[in-house]
Amino acid sequence: RDFGTPAARSEKMITLTVDGFEVSVPEGTSVMRAASEAGISVPKLCATDMLDAFGSCRLCLVEIEGRAGTPASCTTPVAPGMVVHTQTGKLKDLRKGVMELYISDHPLDCLTCAANGDCELQDMAGAVGLRDVRYEAVDTHFRARNAGGDVNPQWLAKDESNPYFTYDPSKCIVCSRCVRACEEVQGTFALTIEGRGFDSRVSAGMMSDTFLSSDCVSCGACVQACPTATLQEKSVIEIGTPERAVVTTCAYCGVGCS
Ligand code: FES
Repeated sequence: RDFGTPAARSEKMITLTVDGFEVSVPEGTSVMRAASEAGISVPKLCATDMLDAFGSCRLCLVEIEGRAGTPASCTTPVAPGMVVHTQTGKLKDLRKGVMELYISDHPLDCLTCAANGDCELQDMAGAVGLRDVRYEAVDTHFRARNAGGDVNPQWLAKDESNPYFTYDPSKCIVCSRCVRACEEVQGTFALTIEGRGFDSRVSAGMMSDTFLSSDCVSCGACVQACPTATLQEKSVIEIGTPERAVVTTCAYCGVGCS
Protein backbone atom coordinates (compact mmCIF):
# COMPACT_ATOMS: atom_id res chain seq x y z
CA ARG A 1 0.00 0.00 0.00
CA ASP A 2 1.34 3.42 -1.02
CA PHE A 3 0.62 6.15 1.55
CA GLY A 4 1.79 8.92 -0.78
CA THR A 5 4.45 10.58 1.35
CA PRO A 6 7.07 9.30 3.82
CA ALA A 7 6.01 8.65 7.42
CA ALA A 8 6.57 11.47 9.92
CA ARG A 9 8.57 10.69 13.06
CA SER A 10 6.92 12.37 16.03
CA GLU A 11 5.54 11.27 19.37
CA LYS A 12 2.89 13.99 19.21
CA MET A 13 -0.35 12.88 17.58
CA ILE A 14 -2.62 15.23 15.62
CA THR A 15 -6.31 14.51 15.15
CA LEU A 16 -8.17 15.78 12.08
CA THR A 17 -11.16 14.89 9.95
CA VAL A 18 -10.91 13.75 6.34
CA ASP A 19 -14.14 13.34 4.38
CA GLY A 20 -15.99 12.88 7.66
CA PHE A 21 -13.57 10.28 9.07
CA GLU A 22 -11.58 11.17 12.17
CA VAL A 23 -7.93 10.13 12.00
CA SER A 24 -4.91 10.64 14.30
CA VAL A 25 -1.41 10.78 12.82
CA PRO A 26 2.04 11.91 14.02
CA GLU A 27 2.72 15.64 13.82
CA GLY A 28 4.38 16.51 10.50
CA THR A 29 2.34 13.97 8.53
CA SER A 30 1.00 15.23 5.20
CA VAL A 31 -2.74 15.59 4.64
CA MET A 32 -2.34 13.05 1.81
CA ARG A 33 -0.89 10.44 4.13
CA ALA A 34 -3.50 11.17 6.81
CA ALA A 35 -6.22 10.62 4.20
CA SER A 36 -4.59 7.35 3.20
CA GLU A 37 -4.45 6.28 6.87
CA ALA A 38 -8.19 6.93 6.96
CA GLY A 39 -8.64 4.67 3.92
CA ILE A 40 -9.12 7.54 1.47
CA SER A 41 -7.09 7.57 -1.71
CA VAL A 42 -6.21 11.01 -3.12
CA PRO A 43 -5.15 11.04 -6.81
CA LYS A 44 -1.43 11.74 -7.20
CA LEU A 45 1.42 11.48 -9.67
CA CYS A 46 4.49 13.12 -8.17
CA ALA A 47 4.24 11.83 -4.57
CA THR A 48 5.46 8.44 -3.35
CA ASP A 49 6.15 6.78 -0.01
CA MET A 50 9.88 6.88 -0.69
CA LEU A 51 10.51 10.47 -1.74
CA ASP A 52 10.10 13.83 -0.05
CA ALA A 53 6.94 15.58 -1.19
CA PHE A 54 7.50 17.87 -4.16
CA GLY A 55 4.06 19.25 -5.05
CA SER A 56 4.53 19.51 -8.81
CA CYS A 57 1.72 17.51 -10.43
CA ARG A 58 -1.19 19.43 -8.79
CA LEU A 59 -3.42 16.36 -8.87
CA CYS A 60 -3.74 15.88 -5.11
CA LEU A 61 -5.54 19.16 -4.43
CA VAL A 62 -7.91 19.23 -1.44
CA GLU A 63 -10.18 21.73 0.26
CA ILE A 64 -9.61 22.60 3.92
CA GLU A 65 -12.35 24.36 5.86
CA GLY A 66 -11.32 27.88 6.87
CA ARG A 67 -8.52 28.05 4.31
CA ALA A 68 -8.63 29.71 0.91
CA GLY A 69 -7.69 27.88 -2.26
CA THR A 70 -7.03 24.23 -2.93
CA PRO A 71 -3.63 23.25 -1.47
CA ALA A 72 -1.71 20.17 -2.54
CA SER A 73 -2.35 17.50 0.10
CA CYS A 74 1.13 15.99 -0.33
CA THR A 75 2.92 19.15 0.79
CA THR A 76 0.39 20.35 3.39
CA PRO A 77 1.05 19.15 6.95
CA VAL A 78 -1.86 18.19 9.18
CA ALA A 79 -3.04 20.54 11.93
CA PRO A 80 -5.20 19.89 15.01
CA GLY A 81 -8.93 19.98 14.23
CA MET A 82 -8.35 20.35 10.50
CA VAL A 83 -11.40 19.47 8.39
CA VAL A 84 -10.37 18.21 4.95
CA HIS A 85 -12.48 17.42 1.91
CA THR A 86 -10.90 15.38 -0.89
CA GLN A 87 -13.80 14.59 -3.23
CA THR A 88 -15.85 17.76 -3.83
CA GLY A 89 -17.20 18.58 -7.27
CA LYS A 90 -14.77 21.48 -7.56
CA LEU A 91 -11.79 19.21 -6.83
CA LYS A 92 -12.97 16.59 -9.31
CA ASP A 93 -13.23 19.24 -12.04
CA LEU A 94 -9.78 20.63 -11.22
CA ARG A 95 -8.17 17.18 -11.30
CA LYS A 96 -9.84 16.32 -14.58
CA GLY A 97 -8.55 19.58 -16.04
CA VAL A 98 -5.01 18.83 -14.87
CA MET A 99 -5.16 15.33 -16.37
CA GLU A 100 -6.41 16.73 -19.67
CA LEU A 101 -3.30 18.90 -19.89
CA TYR A 102 -1.03 15.93 -19.18
CA ILE A 103 -2.72 13.74 -21.78
CA SER A 104 -2.67 16.53 -24.40
CA ASP A 105 1.15 16.32 -24.29
CA HIS A 106 1.47 12.55 -24.13
CA PRO A 107 1.54 9.92 -26.90
CA LEU A 108 -1.75 8.05 -27.17
CA ASP A 109 -0.12 4.68 -27.75
CA CYS A 110 -1.24 2.89 -24.59
CA LEU A 111 -2.15 -0.35 -26.39
CA THR A 112 1.38 -0.79 -27.72
CA CYS A 113 3.24 0.80 -24.81
CA ALA A 114 5.39 -1.47 -22.62
CA ALA A 115 3.84 0.14 -19.52
CA ASN A 116 0.24 -0.59 -20.56
CA GLY A 117 -1.55 -1.80 -17.42
CA ASP A 118 1.34 -0.68 -15.22
CA CYS A 119 1.24 3.07 -15.83
CA GLU A 120 0.23 5.58 -13.15
CA LEU A 121 -0.72 8.20 -15.74
CA GLN A 122 -3.14 5.70 -17.28
CA ASP A 123 -4.46 4.78 -13.81
CA MET A 124 -4.96 8.41 -12.79
CA ALA A 125 -6.73 9.30 -16.06
CA GLY A 126 -9.19 6.55 -15.19
CA ALA A 127 -9.36 7.53 -11.51
CA VAL A 128 -10.40 11.11 -12.28
CA GLY A 129 -12.89 9.95 -14.91
CA LEU A 130 -11.17 11.50 -17.93
CA ARG A 131 -12.91 10.43 -21.13
CA ASP A 132 -12.27 13.31 -23.54
CA VAL A 133 -9.45 15.77 -24.07
CA ARG A 134 -10.53 19.21 -25.29
CA TYR A 135 -7.04 20.37 -26.28
CA GLU A 136 -5.23 19.69 -29.49
CA ALA A 137 -2.46 17.16 -28.96
CA VAL A 138 1.02 18.62 -28.85
CA ASP A 139 3.36 16.37 -30.80
CA THR A 140 6.72 17.44 -29.50
CA HIS A 141 8.52 14.96 -31.74
CA PHE A 142 6.77 16.40 -34.79
CA ARG A 143 7.78 19.87 -33.64
CA ALA A 144 11.34 18.72 -33.18
CA ARG A 145 11.53 17.26 -36.67
CA ASN A 146 10.07 20.39 -38.23
CA ALA A 147 11.45 22.95 -35.86
CA GLY A 148 12.51 26.27 -37.20
CA GLY A 149 15.50 26.13 -34.96
CA ASP A 150 14.20 26.50 -31.43
CA VAL A 151 13.86 22.80 -30.61
CA ASN A 152 16.82 20.48 -30.99
CA PRO A 153 15.69 17.07 -32.36
CA GLN A 154 18.37 15.44 -30.24
CA TRP A 155 16.72 17.01 -27.20
CA LEU A 156 13.64 14.88 -27.77
CA ALA A 157 15.27 11.73 -29.10
CA LYS A 158 14.86 8.40 -27.32
CA ASP A 159 18.02 7.47 -25.43
CA GLU A 160 18.76 3.73 -25.57
CA SER A 161 22.41 4.01 -24.61
CA ASN A 162 22.08 2.45 -21.15
CA PRO A 163 22.30 -1.37 -21.31
CA TYR A 164 19.44 -1.83 -18.83
CA PHE A 165 16.81 0.82 -19.55
CA THR A 166 15.57 3.30 -22.14
CA TYR A 167 14.63 6.96 -21.76
CA ASP A 168 11.78 8.29 -23.92
CA PRO A 169 11.27 12.03 -23.30
CA SER A 170 7.98 12.03 -25.24
CA LYS A 171 6.37 10.13 -22.35
CA CYS A 172 7.81 12.29 -19.58
CA ILE A 173 5.34 14.25 -17.42
CA VAL A 174 8.20 16.07 -15.64
CA CYS A 175 7.10 14.91 -12.19
CA SER A 176 10.76 14.86 -11.15
CA ARG A 177 10.43 11.50 -9.36
CA CYS A 178 13.47 10.14 -11.22
CA VAL A 179 15.56 13.20 -10.39
CA ARG A 180 14.58 13.00 -6.72
CA ALA A 181 15.16 9.22 -6.58
CA CYS A 182 18.63 9.72 -8.03
CA GLU A 183 19.37 12.30 -5.32
CA GLU A 184 17.46 11.02 -2.30
CA VAL A 185 17.74 7.24 -2.75
CA GLN A 186 21.04 6.85 -4.59
CA GLY A 187 22.79 10.13 -3.72
CA THR A 188 24.22 10.38 -7.23
CA PHE A 189 22.79 13.67 -8.56
CA ALA A 190 23.13 12.45 -12.16
CA LEU A 191 19.78 13.84 -13.35
CA THR A 192 18.20 17.25 -13.63
CA ILE A 193 15.27 18.97 -15.37
CA GLU A 194 16.21 21.27 -18.23
CA GLY A 195 14.12 23.49 -20.48
CA ARG A 196 10.75 25.08 -19.87
CA GLY A 197 7.12 24.31 -20.67
CA PHE A 198 6.58 21.78 -23.46
CA ASP A 199 10.33 21.61 -24.05
CA SER A 200 11.27 20.66 -20.49
CA ARG A 201 12.81 17.23 -20.07
CA VAL A 202 14.91 15.12 -17.79
CA SER A 203 18.55 15.46 -18.61
CA ALA A 204 21.49 13.25 -17.68
CA GLY A 205 24.07 16.00 -18.11
CA MET A 206 24.49 18.38 -21.01
CA MET A 207 22.08 18.34 -23.94
CA SER A 208 24.24 16.04 -26.06
CA ASP A 209 24.99 13.62 -23.24
CA THR A 210 23.40 10.19 -23.03
CA PHE A 211 22.61 8.22 -19.90
CA LEU A 212 25.63 6.03 -20.67
CA SER A 213 28.03 8.96 -20.84
CA SER A 214 26.57 10.66 -17.74
CA ASP A 215 27.24 10.15 -14.03
CA CYS A 216 24.41 7.57 -13.92
CA VAL A 217 25.51 4.37 -12.14
CA SER A 218 22.61 2.27 -13.51
CA CYS A 219 21.21 1.62 -10.04
CA GLY A 220 17.65 1.65 -11.40
CA ALA A 221 16.20 3.98 -8.74
CA CYS A 222 14.96 6.35 -11.45
CA VAL A 223 13.33 3.54 -13.40
CA GLN A 224 11.53 2.27 -10.30
CA ALA A 225 10.32 5.79 -9.51
CA CYS A 226 9.03 6.63 -13.01
CA PRO A 227 5.20 6.61 -13.14
CA THR A 228 5.06 6.20 -16.95
CA ALA A 229 7.13 4.42 -19.60
CA THR A 230 9.59 7.29 -19.85
CA LEU A 231 12.24 5.25 -18.08
CA GLN A 232 11.59 1.63 -18.93
CA GLU A 233 13.58 -1.54 -18.31
CA LYS A 234 14.71 -3.11 -21.56
CA SER A 235 13.74 -6.54 -20.27
CA VAL A 236 10.14 -5.33 -19.80
CA ILE A 237 10.10 -3.90 -23.33
CA GLU A 238 11.37 -7.22 -24.71
CA ILE A 239 9.42 -9.77 -22.68
CA GLY A 240 6.73 -7.79 -20.83
CA THR A 241 6.01 -7.02 -17.19
CA PRO A 242 7.00 -9.92 -14.91
CA GLU A 243 4.18 -11.68 -13.08
CA ARG A 244 6.27 -12.01 -9.93
CA ALA A 245 9.14 -9.99 -8.51
CA VAL A 246 11.79 -10.62 -5.87
CA VAL A 247 13.42 -7.59 -4.26
CA THR A 248 16.98 -7.89 -3.04
CA THR A 249 19.23 -5.28 -1.52
CA CYS A 250 23.00 -5.52 -1.71
CA ALA A 251 25.76 -3.48 -0.10
CA TYR A 252 26.40 -1.50 -3.31
CA CYS A 253 23.32 0.67 -2.97
CA GLY A 254 20.09 0.78 -1.02
CA VAL A 255 17.72 0.86 -4.00
CA GLY A 256 16.68 -2.78 -3.92
CA CYS A 257 16.83 -4.64 -7.24
CA SER A 258 13.66 -6.35 -8.39
FE1 FES B 1 0.71 16.27 -4.64
FE2 FES B 1 1.68 15.77 -7.03
S1 FES B 1 0.93 14.37 -5.59
S2 FES B 1 1.23 17.71 -6.15
